Amino acid sequence: MSELNVYEVLNRKRRGAPLDTREIEQFIERYTRGEIPDYQMSALLMAIAINGMTAEEMATLTQSMLRSGDQWHLRSEYDFIADKHSTGGVGDKVSLVLSPWVAACGIPIGMLSGRGLGHTGGTLDKLEAIPGFNARLSREEFDQSIADSGCVISTSTEGIAPADKKIYALRDVTGTVESLPLITASIMSKKLAMGASALILDVKTGSGAFMRHYQDSKALAQSLIAAAAGSGTRVEALITDMDRPLGVAAGNANEIIETIEVLKGNGPADVEEVTRAQAVRTLVMSGKFDDASAAAALDDALDSGRALEQARKWIAAQGGDPAIVDDYSLLPEPRTTIEVKAPQSGFITFIDTYQAGMFTVDLGAGRKKADDVIDYAAGVMFDRKTGDEVRAGDTIARIQLGSGHRDADELTKRYLAFVTFGDEKPEERPLIHEHLV
Ligand code: URA
Repeated sequence: MSELNVYEVLNRKRRGAPLDTREIEQFIERYTRGEIPDYQMSALLMAIAINGMTAEEMATLTQSMLRSGDQWHLRSEYDFIADKHSTGGVGDKVSLVLSPWVAACGIPIGMLSGRGLGHTGGTLDKLEAIPGFNARLSREEFDQSIADSGCVISTSTEGIAPADKKIYALRDVTGTVESLPLITASIMSKKLAMGASALILDVKTGSGAFMRHYQDSKALAQSLIAAAAGSGTRVEALITDMDRPLGVAAGNANEIIETIEVLKGNGPADVEEVTRAQAVRTLVMSGKFDDASAAAALDDALDSGRALEQARKWIAAQGGDPAIVDDYSLLPEPRTTIEVKAPQSGFITFIDTYQAGMFTVDLGAGRKKADDVIDYAAGVMFDRKTGDEVRAGDTIARIQLGSGHRDADELTKRYLAFVTFGDEKPEERPLIHEHLV
């Protein structure tokens, strides 16, 4: 095989010409081994971010990144095992509700998940609010949790897609995070390396999503599905709304409480609806259910308390204290709560959900730097949301403070700066926009 001419590859991609399979494969292999320096990879990433990639190039990039490390091939070890991925949002606790709910219907589900990124919360951070919960599992522990409880959520192990870890760190500092082919290869290399039987993608759209505009969200969903072609993992996507926070709670411990409340049948309707839509698709993809029997199985799992029981087993299987299900005081609790009052009567017409997410991060619920320590008790309760009618003086939100002192007036002012009020009820946006296969 001829030696890769890195300079020539960079020059060609800069001019917008497609790279061939061998060039992409060798570039990723040699970069992962440390034979291509960061500055040349950065140049390639920028050329890709500017000029894009063909579907073929993107598939090759995804495959090369997934082959840079371990491949678990879970679908060959399990009769059927599901996976789920969300592109991230504010108050997005869908994975937490979905896992025990689907497991209670007899379908095993496992995820290698991430921590908070930018303004979005992280599933692993939320789980780590549970005393004792271990989200850093070995492959053996991952399998054991499924054996014990039918579900598992863990951080990606070192061995999964090491090329992505190196490339992601470079993208973060070279302005190349927002690139459709790079996002696609990053997400799908990790998902396909785990190798579930089926994957449901929750692609968010709106002011709190990474892809704010509908057409961009749809393009990402289509790109993620295309990257899995021929992989053996069946992939479907739902485009769901993130133009307002999902549910009431955004933070960590408060989202665990909201998750348990949904499993008890008392949760916010929007969380239940978005989770249910994805759970139905997950059950149908298993081949053991059709739409009607999936919906009936999910109702039964919730109404009988089996989904809640499954959550107890799951928390215990990953080392957490299952007593939190019945006693929320075992979770980190806010030291103070600030009530935000409506400054006028009328309707809430918009919550800038990106700003709401940044505000939540700023309270300590997320990280601004990789080594920041999460304050699990901190967060926001969005008691009144877009479309709600309010009277001046009504409590529209509660800001939950963990450790450290904060100025209540300043926080209230900042909260009100990203909420818009008006005289007319805004047009309702659907929660589920589109289903793509
Ligand atoms: N999540 C990922 O894993 N990678 C991206 O590039 C964006 C979101």
